[in-house]
Amino acid sequence: MNQYNPPRRPPSLLERAGEVYDYIPAVRTGDRQEKEATAMPADSPGGQVTPVTPRPVQPYDGPRVIVDRDKLREAGFIVPDGPVTGIAEEFRIIKRQLLLAAKGSQKSRPVPRGERILICSAHPDEGKTFCALNLALSIAAEKDNEVLLVDADFAKPSILSSLGLEGSKGLMDALADPELPVENCIIHTDIPGLAILPAGDQTNADTEYLASARTEQVLNRLTQNNPHRIVIFDSPPALSASPASVLATHVGQVVMVVKADETTESALRDALGLMGGCEHIQLLLNGTKFSPTGRRFGSYYGYGE
Ligand SMILES: Nc1ncnc2c1ncn2[C@@H]1O[C@H](COP(=O)(O)OP(=O)(O)O)[C@@H](O)[C@H]1O
Ligand SMILES: [Mg+2]
Repeated sequence: MNQYNPPRRPPSLLERAGEVYDYIPAVRTGDRQEKEATAMPADSPGGQVTPVTPRPVQPYDGPRVIVDRDKLREAGFIVPDGPVTGIAEEFRIIKRQLLLAAKGSQKSRPVPRGERILICSAHPDEGKTFCALNLALSIAAEKDNEVLLVDADFAKPSILSSLGLEGSKGLMDALADPELPVENCIIHTDIPGLAILPAGDQTNADTEYLASARTEQVLNRLTQNNPHRIVIFDSPPALSASPASVLATHVGQVVMVVKADETTESALRDALGLMGGCEHIQLLLNGTKFSPTGRRFGSYYGYGE
């Protein structure tokens, strides 16, 4: 009798990129875990999972700050209601995978805490903020979703300046002061569906605050009354700041930005090793000029041993 060989999944972007950048050994480690991570849960006969319908919430009707569209355009970001650019198309593809994991489907359960997404990379200047803000703008454009973009690069916050907004209290202040409700730090923008949580005051103890038990309570408040909200964290670089690995323990999904022709294999491995607190990691190849299939986003689930 012939042996049954299950159909192989198509190679991920990372595997294809491996032919160019030699990332293949790192992928093999993840391969085995991906199978475990994507296996159908034992308690779901036939793979049918009924998604829970979130409760409707009152839309926010307070004051909104105006985002500088020219600044967005000049820096190459997606402009709300602007022309559909190549970048806009790419982030549509990227957000689909992330939203699918966050919300689940007929065939798959939502990833636990999948509505919290950390955008990380090994080093500075690899495109974390660029990707976090574009992803937030892309998700905000969806009628059914709201997005809260959290500036979690506490040492070098740049979300507010990218949007042309003034500094104000933020996540670190809410973590440091139990009397300050984190909701009071949220800035609602005139872009429908987009709100910002600034980084807040700089402190040398950011890692300690993030690692405290209160952090999870504070983060829960960001979504507890708003089940449609996706929370995107713009992370500090994994290899130059310790908060990144602590943030990974608070999110359900990590997007690891890999800068084409710059991020080395060893830096990527080290950065992924620090993301052990999250089981659902995807790679995003940024700034590539070469894409044989036209796709630039790769799956890389389950890394974390
Ligand atoms: N794909 C891209 N296309 C155009 N500009 C980019 C792209 N990725 C990053 N940049 C630009 O490169 C610079 C560094 O990116 P940034 O997102 O600030 O890096 P990081 O947050 O990782 O430090 C910024 O000026 C950003 O606008
Ligand atoms: Mg940044």
